[in-house]
Amino acid sequence: MTVYYYRDRFIESGREVVPVEERAFNYGDGIYEVVRFEAGHGVGLTEHLERLRNSAEAIRLRLPHPLEKIREIVVEAASRVGAGAVDVYFQISRGEAPRSHAFPDAEPVLALFARPGKTYTDEFRRAGVGAITVPDERWANCWIKSLNLLPNVLAKQAAVEAGAYEAVFVRDGFVTEASASNVFGLHGDVFYTAPAEREILNGITRRFVIAAIRDLGYTLKEERMSAAFFEQEVEAAFVTSTTMDMMPLNSVNRRKLPPPPADSPLWAVLNRMRELSRSGVAVA
Ligand SMILES: Cc1ncc(COP(=O)(O)O)c(C=O)c1O
Repeated sequence: MTVYYYRDRFIESGREVVPVEERAFNYGDGIYEVVRFEAGHGVGLTEHLERLRNSAEAIRLRLPHPLEKIREIVVEAASRVGAGAVDVYFQISRGEAPRSHAFPDAEPVLALFARPGKTYTDEFRRAGVGAITVPDERWANCWIKSLNLLPNVLAKQAAVEAGAYEAVFVRDGFVTEASASNVFGLHGDVFYTAPAEREILNGITRRFVIAAIRDLGYTLKEERMSAAFFEQEVEAAFVTSTTMDMMPLNSVNRRKLPPPPADSPLWAVLNRMRELSRSGVAVA
């Protein structure tokens, strides 16, 4: 069952007509978030709402409601779907107005859908997924969770056509992130991931993973991996996102990565990350 919300109310169908001159689809002029609920708990919900507020400020978008009201609507949507794993997607656009690039005199619009979240078995996770590398042709402000995802769509499609699952972006010879996830490498007991600067989205899952790595006493190098290191030298690699949590990679381009052994730090971090993110602890 999928639940929908548009503008100021829950609606019956996601196919209700949206105004043709709604800036979300004329310009991609808006921002969004995706939150996973488990047993009624919104994983990192506070962090997602704060990131929404930061994205809104960055594009000078007024939120249609106070953050607390948005939280209530999101929680209500998740509870209408049920108590299992639920994903809530919500976006805010700059609203409906006759098409003209500059900011309109219009009310911002909240649109949302909530539906059962896809979960992965341990077996699937042990087997992992494949990735390819692609040039990062996105803009300079990837830290903003903008509705503009065309380069991400094209990158993901390239991955699918190559028989892979994710596309890892490489900018100036270094790994930034992936089309819909952050990227980590593991070499010995040292974890690597790109720093949270303008060229990546600072994933909420990424933050929980970093907290888990530190909590367990492993070394984290928050520095960009060169494409050569990532493609040829890492012993394990994984991607992180709200809907996948931590997903190991079993190949990068033509190179196969063996499944991480049972005593790999990767699994310890996965378990600790889950404990932390489900406990309601805050991450910066
Ligand atoms: C480009 C990109 N990077 C990273 C992420 C992971 O972010 P989070 O862990 O907050 O879902 C996403 C998630 O959609 C994404 O689209």
